[in-house]
Amino acid sequence: MKLDFLYRGTPGHPLHPPLTDATIGTYTFATIAGVLTKVGIAESEAARSWALALIVGLVVSVPTALTGFADWLRIARGTPLWRTATAHMIAMLLATAFFLIAIGAGYSDGIDGALPDGAFILTLVGFLVLTVGGWLGGSVVFNYGMRVLNLVEEPASRAVSPVPHPEEEIAEK
Ligand code: HEM
Repeated sequence: MKLDFLYRGTPGHPLHPPLTDATIGTYTFATIAGVLTKVGIAESEAARSWALALIVGLVVSVPTALTGFADWLRIARGTPLWRTATAHMIAMLLATAFFLIAIGAGYSDGIDGALPDGAFILTLVGFLVLTVGGWLGGSVVFNYGMRVLNLVEEPASRAVSPVPHPEEEIAEK
């Protein structure tokens, strides 16, 4: 029995994209909370939210990165798709590093209701790099069609069920 659906998902329903929604959403919330602290809206509550959201984002990043890595391993090396996906991986690891350093620098103050300037700037830089990485991830999916089946004639009942689809021939050139 093939167990790779546990880390790759199934054809038509890959695991990495939905996990990226949770990760990017949580980091976006942390960044907004940081901005709210700095502009003086709900200052201490927003600083605590910043700290907690960054922790949650970093935890969710683990399965997100692992599922992305599992898909990346299947791409033929040296192809334009591989280069784009590798640039995406580097950007996302860099963004994660910025968020990690930000929380390392600001966690205890954040939980006490204050956000140090350095940790805030690191969060903004992390968010910028995350956006670039998301753009590159979008190219991997929407330009190269990685993991996209595009079975426009597929009956709805089959499209929503985890039945075998001819994914390999279509997506992983
Ligand atoms: C942890 C942070 C990461 C985030 C937030 C993230 C985000 C994204 C986004 C937004 C997409 C486009 C999917 C869509 O629009 O639905 C994507 C696709 C992709 N990412 Fe990531 N990514 C992360 C880490 C990684 C890593 C570490 C790798 C590789 C080692 C990777 C490899 C891929 C691949 C191969 C795709 C193509 C779609 C797929 O295989 O499911 N990602 N990623």
